[in-house]
Amino acid sequence: MPLILIGAIILLAASASARDFPNCKSGPLSTNKVCDATLSPWARASALVAEFTVQEKIANSGDKSPGVQRLGLPAYEWWQEALHGVAGSPGVSFAASGNFSYATSFPQPITMGAAFDLPLIRSVADVISTEARAFSNVGRTGLNFWTPNINPYRDPRWGRGQEVPSEDAYFASQYINVLIPGLQGGGPSHSADNPYYKLVATCKHYAGYDIENWQGNQRYGFNAVITRQDLQDYYLAPFRACARDADAQSFMCAYNAVNGVPTCADPWLLQDVLRDQYGFSTSTSTATPGGKDDEGATAADEGDRWVTSDCDAIKNVWNDHHYGASAADAAARSLNAGTDLDCGDFWPQNLAAALRANLTTEAALHKSLVRRYASMARLGWFDAAAGQPYRRLSWADVATPDAKALALRAAVEGIVLLQNKNTTLPLGPSPKKVAVIGPLGSATTQLQGNYFGRAQSVTSVVAAFKSAGWDVTAVQGTSIAGSSTSGFAAAVSAAQAADVIVYVGGIDNSQESETRDRNAIAWPGQQLALIDRLAEVKSEEAKKPLVVVQLGTMVDSSSLVSGDGKVDALVWAGYPGQSGGQAVVDILLGTNAPAGRLPVTQYPASFVDQVKMTNMNLRPGAGNPGQTYKWYNGTTVFPFAHGLHYTTFNATFSNATSLPSTFSTADLTRAIRFNATGPPGSGNYPDLAPFATVSVTVANTGSTNVTSDYVVLLFAKGGEYGPAPHPNKSLVGFARAHSVAPGATAEVTLPLTLGALARGDAEGSLVLWPGKYTLVLDVDGRDTWDFEITGDEVVLEKLAAARNGTNRAVD
Ligand SMILES: *[C@@H]1O[C@H](CO)[C@@H](O)[C@H](O)[C@H]1NC(C)=O
Ligand SMILES: *[C@@H]1O[C@H](CO)[C@@H](O)[C@H](O)[C@H]1NC(C)=O
Ligand SMILES: *[C@@H]1O[C@H](CO)[C@@H](O)[C@H](O)[C@H]1NC(C)=O
Ligand SMILES: *[C@@H]1O[C@H](CO)[C@@H](O)[C@H](O)[C@H]1NC(C)=O
Ligand SMILES: *[C@@H]1O[C@H](CO)[C@@H](O)[C@H](O)[C@H]1NC(C)=O
Ligand SMILES: *[C@@H]1O[C@H](CO)[C@@H](O)[C@H](O)[C@H]1NC(C)=O
Ligand SMILES: *[C@@H]1O[C@H](CO)[C@@H](O)[C@H](O)[C@H]1NC(C)=O
Ligand SMILES: *[C@@H]1O[C@H](CO)[C@@H](O)[C@H](O)[C@H]1NC(C)=O
Ligand SMILES: *[C@@H]1O[C@H](CO)[C@@H](O)[C@H](O)[C@H]1NC(C)=O
Ligand SMILES: *[C@@H]1O[C@H](CO)[C@@H](O)[C@H](O)[C@H]1NC(C)=O
Repeated sequence: MPLILIGAIILLAASASARDFPNCKSGPLSTNKVCDATLSPWARASALVAEFTVQEKIANSGDKSPGVQRLGLPAYEWWQEALHGVAGSPGVSFAASGNFSYATSFPQPITMGAAFDLPLIRSVADVISTEARAFSNVGRTGLNFWTPNINPYRDPRWGRGQEVPSEDAYFASQYINVLIPGLQGGGPSHSADNPYYKLVATCKHYAGYDIENWQGNQRYGFNAVITRQDLQDYYLAPFRACARDADAQSFMCAYNAVNGVPTCADPWLLQDVLRDQYGFSTSTSTATPGGKDDEGATAADEGDRWVTSDCDAIKNVWNDHHYGASAADAAARSLNAGTDLDCGDFWPQNLAAALRANLTTEAALHKSLVRRYASMARLGWFDAAAGQPYRRLSWADVATPDAKALALRAAVEGIVLLQNKNTTLPLGPSPKKVAVIGPLGSATTQLQGNYFGRAQSVTSVVAAFKSAGWDVTAVQGTSIAGSSTSGFAAAVSAAQAADVIVYVGGIDNSQESETRDRNAIAWPGQQLALIDRLAEVKSEEAKKPLVVVQLGTMVDSSSLVSGDGKVDALVWAGYPGQSGGQAVVDILLGTNAPAGRLPVTQYPASFVDQVKMTNMNLRPGAGNPGQTYKWYNGTTVFPFAHGLHYTTFNATFSNATSLPSTFSTADLTRAIRFNATGPPGSGNYPDLAPFATVSVTVANTGSTNVTSDYVVLLFAKGGEYGPAPHPNKSLVGFARAHSVAPGATAEVTLPLTLGALARGDAEGSLVLWPGKYTLVLDVDGRDTWDFEITGDEVVLEKLAAARNGTNRAVD
C-alpha cells in the first residue's frame, strides 16, 4: 500500500463517516432476493448484482464503492487493515477520544512468530476480530481486512519483514492455519448456530513479493524471476495453506510480476494455481448462511472467494509493467485473469473503454461483483442483527483486561535471549539504579512498527523500569542512524553512576518500512561506538552488567558477542507492541523467563555484498551464498531458531526405542486417493497425509529454580535424498511447552506430515523422496532419529503447468 497511508496521519485524518448496513427491512432492497437469508450467498449476490446497470458495475469495481443508492445499497470501503490489531487505514476510523479511540495493539508478526506458539496466535487473532467487529457495529470499520501479510521473509533487507512471522515457509503455513480461523471466526464458534464469518481476511501479497525499493528496483515494476522449484517449496507454500487449508475468503495480488507477468494480470497464478489447484472458489467451510441456490448452480460455480489487487497495483500493471496494449487493455487483462477488485480507481476509470473495445466482458465484471457481495452475505451484512452473535459485540469487548494481558504475553513469549554471559540475566526483582541508554529506551509508538492502530497506551522500557520501582536515569546518547557523538558524555556519566547499564537501540521504521528496504544490515549510526564506550565503563567496574536490548528486525550483532564480547547479555524484542517495554523489563528482571527463538537468520553484515536482493534463487549459485537457513552456506551470527533460557532443558524423543527405522513410500501413501484431474478435495491432500506423530519429553534440568517455557523444534537434516543441492536442514515440526517447573517434565506431541518431509523438483512437483533421513531436536541436535524411506518417489502435488510463454522456470 502506498506509504502515505501509513502511520499517525491517517489515524487522525480518517473521517468519522458512519457506515450503514444495507436496509433489508423497508428499502428497495427488501423485495430483492439478496435479503432472503434462506438462499445461498451466491444466489443472493446474483440477485443483487442483476439489478446493477453496467455503469453501476464499473463504479463499484474500486475499493471506494459508491454502492447503488437507488437500490438502497450503501457505499462501502473495502480497504481495512488489522495486521496486529485494528489499524489505521481508509476504512477504519478511531474516535478522537473516549469509546473507540483505541484498540489492542499486539506485537508485530515478526515478534509473535518468535514465540513459536500456535495457540497464542489463535488467541491474538480471536481478539483482533472481536475488536474489529465491535468497531464495525458502530460504523467505524468495514468487514474486509487486507491482512495477513504472509510472504516468507527471504531477505533481511526487506522493509516489510517485520509484518511477517518467519523466513521459513513451513512455519508461515502453520501460523496461517491458526491465524485465519481466528480472524474469520472459524472453528467452534463458526457453527450451525452462528454460520456467519466474523471478518474476511486477505492473504497477501500473492506472490513473490519481498522487495520494496532496493537500489532503484521498485516493487511497482519489479519482475521476480523464480524457478518452479522455489515457487513450490517456498514462495507459494504459505498461500497454499491460506487458500486451500485455512479457508481465507480473499487474496491480494502483488505489485510485482512473476516471470514476466504482473501478478494481478496473471491467469496462471490467479486461475490455474489459486482457483484450480488450490481450490480457491467456494468457501471450504461447511457452515454457510443460507441454503441451496434456487437456480441450481453447483458449488463450483458459486466461487464467492475473491481477489483484490494491492492498492493501485492495477494502475501499475499499465504504468510500471507496461503490460498490455493500452490502459484499457491492462485493466481488462487484470479482470480477465481473475482479479475481482481494484484497490484503487484504475478500473472505474478504464473498464468502460475496455468493454467498448471488447477487451473484456460484462459477464467477467458481473462475476467479480457477485463474488464480493456473496462474501458480504457470508458476513451477515444483509441480515438482521438480531440473529447474529457478532453484531452484539461492543466497546465493552475492546481492549479488555484479558486482551491487554494477551498483548503482554505475546510480547514476553516473542522476546529472544541471544546471549547471557555468566548468567547476567535475570537482574532480579530488587530495585537498583539503572542507566537506560540509547535511542529507543523511551520509545513508544516505535514499538508498534507499521500498520498499527492507536493503543490506549504504549509502555516504554524506561516507564516499565520506573513502575518496577527502579531508580532510572534515561539518556539517549545517540540517535538511531545519525553521526553525532555529542550525547556520549552524558550517557557515559549516567552509566558510571548506575548499578546496571541497559542499552536499548537497534532500528525502527526510519530504517525499514514499506517502500524502504535497507542497503546494510549492520547497526546504523554511532550506536556500536556508544556501546563500546559503555563497555569501557563496565570494564572499569567488572561487576556492572551491560545489557543490550535490540529492537527492529535483525542487525549484525557479532561484534557485541564474539570472543570475550563487550556485552554481558543481548536480548532481541523486535516490535513488541503496546506492552513492549513492560515485556522487556519483565524478562530482564526475571518476572518471566525468555523462551522465544529467532524466526529468521541473523546474517553477517557482509551478506548484503554477496547477493543482490533481486536474486530470488534460494539455492547457492553464482553471486549467491544461498538464502534462508536452509540454503545459506556462510557462517551465521545467530542461526534460525536460536534462543537461550534462564534454565537448562533436556529434550528427548519420548519413546526412542519404539520409533520405526524404516518406512516405505507405498505404505505411507496407501490411504491417499490420488486424483489426476484436480484437487482431491475433502481434505484428501497428499502433502497433509500423516507421516508419524512424535512425542518429545522436555525436562527442566536447571539448578536455578526458574520455571520456563521451552520451544520444541524438530528439523530434518540435509540428507542425500532428492535433487541436489540439499538444504542444510528443514523445520518439520514445532510446539511450545509452557511453564515447565524446575525438575518437572512436559510432554509435547508433533504431528508430522508427508509434505513437511517432501521437497520440490525442478518441475515444481512436491515429491516424497526415498532415502536416509535424520530428524534432530533443536538447533544443537540434542536427540536424533534416523530412519529410511524405501520404495519409489511419490509426487504429492503438481504445480499447474506453465501457460505458453509465461511462468516458465528460469534459472
Ligand atoms: C464488440 O463486439 C460486439 C458484439 O460482438 C460487436 O458488435 C462490436 O462491433 C464489437 N466492438 C468492437 C470495437 O470490436
Ligand atoms: C462506552 O462504552 C460502554 C461499554 O459498552 C458503554 O457502557 C458506555 O455507555 C459507552 N459510552 C458512551 C459515551 O457511548
Ligand atoms: C565470566 O565467567 C568467566 C568464567 O566462567 C570468567 O572468566 C569471567 O571473568 C566472568 N566475567 C565476568 C564479567 O564476571
Ligand atoms: C557458497 O556458495 C557459493 C555459490 O555456489 C560458492 O561460491 C561459495 O564457495 C560457497 N561457500 C561455501 C563456504 O561453501
Ligand atoms: C538429560 O539428558 C541426559 C543425556 O541424554 C541424561 O543423561 C539425563 O538423565 C537427562 N536428565 C533428565 C532430568 O532428564
Ligand atoms: C510410549 O510408549 C508406550 C508403550 O508403547 C506408550 O504406552 C506411551 O503412550 C508412549 N508414550 C508416548 C509419549 O508416546
Ligand atoms: C478429483 O478432482 C476433481 C476436481 O476437483 C473432483 O471433481 C473429483 O471429485 C476428485 N475426485 C476424487 C476421487 O477426489
Ligand atoms: C522456587 O521458586 C518458587 C517460586 O518463585 C518459590 O516458591 C520456591 O520457594 C523456590 N524454591 C527454592 C528451592 O528456591
Ligand atoms: C549445516 O550448516 C552447519 C553450519 O554451517 C554445518 O556445520 C553443517 O555441516 C551443515 N549441514 C548440512 C547437512 O549441510
Ligand atoms: C502454445 O503455443 C503454441 C504456438 O503458439 C500453440 O500451437 C499451442 O496451442 C499453445 N498451447 C497452449 C496450451 O495454449
